[in-house]
Amino acid sequence: MDKTPMYAPQPARKRVRTLQLALVFLAASSYALTYLLWPTSHTTALPLNVEHIVAQCSALHLTPGPPDNFHDRSQSDRFAQGTKPTLIRNASIWTGLDSGNEVVYGDILIDKGLIKKVGTVDASLLNAYRGVVVLDAAGSWVSPGIVDLHSHLGVDSAPALRGADDTNSLKGLTLPWLRSLDGLNTHDDAYQLSISGGVTTANVLPGSADAIGGQAFVIKLRPTAERSSSAMLLEPPFTLNGTYVDPFQRPRWRQMKHACGENPSRVYSGTRMDTQWAFRQAYNTARIIKEKQDAYCAKALAGQWTGLGDFPEDLQWEALVDVLRGRVKVQNHCYEGVDIDGMVRLTNEFKFSIAAFHHAHEAYMVPDLIKKAYGLTPAVAIFATTARYKREAYRGSEFAARILADNGLDVVMKSDHPVLNSRHLIYEAQQAHYFGLPANLSLASVTSTPARIMGQDHRIGRIIEGFDADIVVWDSHPLSLGAAPTQVFIDGIAQIKKPYTSKKPKSAQRVPSTPNFDKEMADAIKYEGLPPLEPETAKADVVVFWNVGSIFMKNTATRKVSEVFTLAAANGVVVVEKGRIVCSGAEAACPTALSRPDALHLDLEGGSISPGLLSYGSPLGLSHITAEASTSDGLVFDPLSMLVPDIIGGTVIKAADGLLFATRDALLGYRNGVTSAVTAPSSRGFLSGLSTVFSTAAAHKLIDGAVPQEVAALHVALSLSSGVSVSTQIATLRGLLLGEGTTDLAKRFADVVAGKIPLVVDVESADIIASVLVLKQEVEAATGKTIRLTLAGATEAHLLAEEIGQAGVGVILQQRPFPSAWERKRILPGPPLTQSSAIAALVAHNVTVGIAVDELDRVRNTRFDMAWAGLESNGVLGKAEALALASSNLEILLGVEEINSDLVATKGGAGFEGKVLAIISPCRGSVHLI
Ligand SMILES: *[C@@H]1O[C@H](CO)[C@@H](O)[C@H](O)[C@H]1NC(C)=O
Ligand SMILES: *[C@@H]1O[C@H](CO)[C@@H](O)[C@H](O)[C@H]1NC(C)=O
Ligand SMILES: *[C@@H]1O[C@H](CO)[C@@H](O)[C@H](O)[C@H]1NC(C)=O
Ligand SMILES: *[C@@H]1O[C@H](CO)[C@@H](O)[C@H](O)[C@H]1NC(C)=O
Repeated sequence: MDKTPMYAPQPARKRVRTLQLALVFLAASSYALTYLLWPTSHTTALPLNVEHIVAQCSALHLTPGPPDNFHDRSQSDRFAQGTKPTLIRNASIWTGLDSGNEVVYGDILIDKGLIKKVGTVDASLLNAYRGVVVLDAAGSWVSPGIVDLHSHLGVDSAPALRGADDTNSLKGLTLPWLRSLDGLNTHDDAYQLSISGGVTTANVLPGSADAIGGQAFVIKLRPTAERSSSAMLLEPPFTLNGTYVDPFQRPRWRQMKHACGENPSRVYSGTRMDTQWAFRQAYNTARIIKEKQDAYCAKALAGQWTGLGDFPEDLQWEALVDVLRGRVKVQNHCYEGVDIDGMVRLTNEFKFSIAAFHHAHEAYMVPDLIKKAYGLTPAVAIFATTARYKREAYRGSEFAARILADNGLDVVMKSDHPVLNSRHLIYEAQQAHYFGLPANLSLASVTSTPARIMGQDHRIGRIIEGFDADIVVWDSHPLSLGAAPTQVFIDGIAQIKKPYTSKKPKSAQRVPSTPNFDKEMADAIKYEGLPPLEPETAKADVVVFWNVGSIFMKNTATRKVSEVFTLAAANGVVVVEKGRIVCSGAEAACPTALSRPDALHLDLEGGSISPGLLSYGSPLGLSHITAEASTSDGLVFDPLSMLVPDIIGGTVIKAADGLLFATRDALLGYRNGVTSAVTAPSSRGFLSGLSTVFSTAAAHKLIDGAVPQEVAALHVALSLSSGVSVSTQIATLRGLLLGEGTTDLAKRFADVVAGKIPLVVDVESADIIASVLVLKQEVEAATGKTIRLTLAGATEAHLLAEEIGQAGVGVILQQRPFPSAWERKRILPGPPLTQSSAIAALVAHNVTVGIAVDELDRVRNTRFDMAWAGLESNGVLGKAEALALASSNLEILLGVEEINSDLVATKGGAGFEGKVLAIISPCRGSVHLI
């Protein structure tokens, strides 16, 4: 045995490296010198594994990263045998270079899982490749694959099944030894969906129930030949399977989940103080081990072997020790200033870096605090407009991305999939852009920046020769509303077998020219996330809107929305007096417009005037913060699944009795054109109760017009997961529809049978929908009357589009379906996976369709949802039909009797180019300025 460790035999290719290291040690440390000069005759004093120990000790200084010769590779380690070379011709390539401003017009050649050439690929180069598949991009936008820094793909799988939730371990507050990989399900329905949205790489994190939830793993989303979880991993740590690791090779980056604030505190019935102590205790354990290792290695490298014993290590804590050695990207779920402060202190106490604060709804208020974190300044990984769902998120701002970037912090947009369906991660970047993040940083926020924050920017996140061939070809500019991939490559393999596209307008091919939000952004900071949202009433009686491009109106008799006015030159005029349009048309048609010196003049810059939108599907008006019971109306007693207190009797609960006004989500909805809402009582069972119609702008219930209609419709829910059998639920519904009686419940169902109010059935599964259609027929045959039936949720309704159309039943569904539960499994995803979206499929069968918005914070985005539905319908829905989805159709489907006559004046173009400027209200007799 050779006992001169520094010169121990090594494979030839490693010798140079070893020598370099030896020289480094020689120069850097005197103990190394002592050691080297030690005569070989003293070897009897050395432990048997001295070579291993010295190697291990020397390796402690190595920082993670690719090997020096990484870019010499000619084939990816992830190359799948048999994959043909591909040439993407004639593309507009956003490469991610030049601070995210470079666009190359040309070709991309990919082979062996790598990008071989970006620019002009001429015949001579092409001749070197056999069997090249050519994709003519015809000028389309091409971007790097989308990278999701925060996902639970595979561990929180779709559809959610009891056997598939591997997100959180509840075995302790600090569990750095756990690994998300151990729960990584290869059959999550979401992989294919997320790929169809352009996502190619995701960092799969454990959940946030624990302070230290465990190690995260970066995966590529495509299916592999091996079909294993491990085969999905991108550059997993060498130590993963416990085999021999070359100590002189730079280690690979590891990832670890941390969480502070509400989640770990609540899950363990503790407080923030308990969580923070758990962190300190864990880090102290790791620190002690690390110090022992360092002391051990100092002695070993100094040749002081006597009584040295074994290298101090502990399998449970080695990953956290690695955090202290700067080898782990810590991904830290942390929302509020108070929690960020705690983590910043922790990093300085124990000297480790945080890669990114995630969610971080208050980060934009404390940029200087974030910069005080130990070592590298953490990035901030956020949602665009998802906020206010719990206290920690209450002060979240849509301007956070821009504010953080203005403060020089790295901004990442992430999905937290399935919290947000990562298929639409690009939508987060689009919204960030809409609210002021520059285009280069918006695209970077879902590509190059997350790649860098996860330590993979040597191979993914940009389009560079030698990088992994993860590429998205888009049908429109990726920052434009509704942009969808037409093809997605992962490791050079085309992922969409038969891509379908919906024709997009020409305007969608350029970066949207977004509105100015400077004042709103300043207010977000000034008011610490709670700027006043109440609209201001215009003082002038007359308001003149100039440069109006189009006017959409509801026909008061048919309720149909149509475009009543379009000016190609976009120079129409609309004169409003006391909230009523008194003149509209070309400038010459409204001579009064200029003659009123007292008028307020507003320039719509080619924008539109269109009907006020209606919201349905969330507890809007019944809750300020959904996770806080003390801010919400609460749940009704469900007579089918629980004991109803006698004192309630047979009364059906009316949502109108519980209305809460001036919630931030209602006001934000109003500011974005949602002027009214229909909300049903919140229930987790069969019977919900009676919905109500209310104004989103009203300050309280006693204001004129606050509740234009106390009762709209009767609501019930039928579900596979209600705890009571579906057959029991249907039987109950049959009994109620065919029954008689004097209770309130019996009378309300009599109203339904008589067609006086609609019955809204919350139902997802096509099988249950079919049973409901049969029941409708049965009841109608028995009574000779026609029921006004509306299906809500209805994710699988498209499977029965024809039957639903024939039955004259309406459907309210979400614009973006997701198979979150078994009864929602059979979604119609729309382009690029299917030609038709669910909405378009139902409309094609003459079904009256409305758009549902399920979460409070999404109410404000209704105008995007409805425009998006039009954009992905391939011409089935024009602008007027798209508007109807969130206005007149919903009114009809929900039994709204009096037509909402509010009009919304939007400045600028459609989608991400417009901004609501005013709400015109004939009922109130005034114009609200936003
Ligand atoms: C984004 O692009 C602008 C120019 O359009 C440039 O000034 C800015 O530095 C870029 N941002 C970053 C962080 O690279
Ligand atoms: C690229 O595509 C655009 C749009 O189809 C077309 O006008 C142009 O001629 C094409 N250029 C090349 C080099 O093929
Ligand atoms: C697992 O072990 C094999 C040797 O059996 C090795 O080639 C491979 O790289 C290891 N994998 C990881 C992820 O470390
Ligand atoms: C839808 O209605 C139109 C007009 O009433 C009719 O021509 C068409 O056949 C209907 N389509 C279906 C699928 O029922």
